[in-house]
Amino acid sequence: MKLQIALDDISMEAAMELLGKVKEYADIAEVGTPFLMEYGMEAVRRIHAGFPGLSILCDGKIMDAGGYEAELAFRAGADYVTVLAVTDDRTILDVAAAAKKYGKKTVADMICVENLKERSRQLEELGVDVIAVHTGVDQQAAGRTPLQDLKELRSAVTCAQIAVAGGIRLDTLDAYLEYEPEIIIVGGGIVHAEDPAGETKKLAEKIRERKR
Ligand code: 5RP
Ligand code: MG
Repeated sequence: MKLQIALDDISMEAAMELLGKVKEYADIAEVGTPFLMEYGMEAVRRIHAGFPGLSILCDGKIMDAGGYEAELAFRAGADYVTVLAVTDDRTILDVAAAAKKYGKKTVADMICVENLKERSRQLEELGVDVIAVHTGVDQQAAGRTPLQDLKELRSAVTCAQIAVAGGIRLDTLDAYLEYEPEIIIVGGGIVHAEDPAGETKKLAEKIRERKR
């Protein structure tokens, strides 16, 4: 089970400082969508150069031009790129082909997918490596969590890995660990914490404890 830190609403300097403190605890550094909008692929390049021991996920939430956009992320040093599961199968196939070409991984973000089980089976056939259950920030504001979706997907997915994101925090982590997702994604629960590095360490310790 891996811990992914989503760097969303944080400056480049603060992100680099945080990663410096938590590189032993986090497995994947996510260049979050707003961070990517602010700094572009330079963010991926800087984290790749500064932290060669960390895997990098580029949360491009690709919706079109899948092959081209995925290649931009992989060439910059990303190990994973996200494509929206709601998009056209051809876009997903093109992202998966780019990932294969670079020896990297495709993550399908299930945000706003209604037919979770059916779509997850199709995504596995399309060659997606990771299926990410995701309750977006705006849905979280309406009181939603990804827990029920995770439970549903756990029983449907056969060969892909499962990631989960959407307002997960230290005090809600246990409920998610129960369903053994391969990747736990935490953004605001770390970045908005009083002590982001300390919070990352506690999350990682809980995840490692669970693995034993
Ligand atoms: C929003 C995202 C976030 O990175 C993801 O939701 C994780 O952040 P948080 O833990 O704050 O929900 O992709 O679209
Ligand atoms: Mg994200």
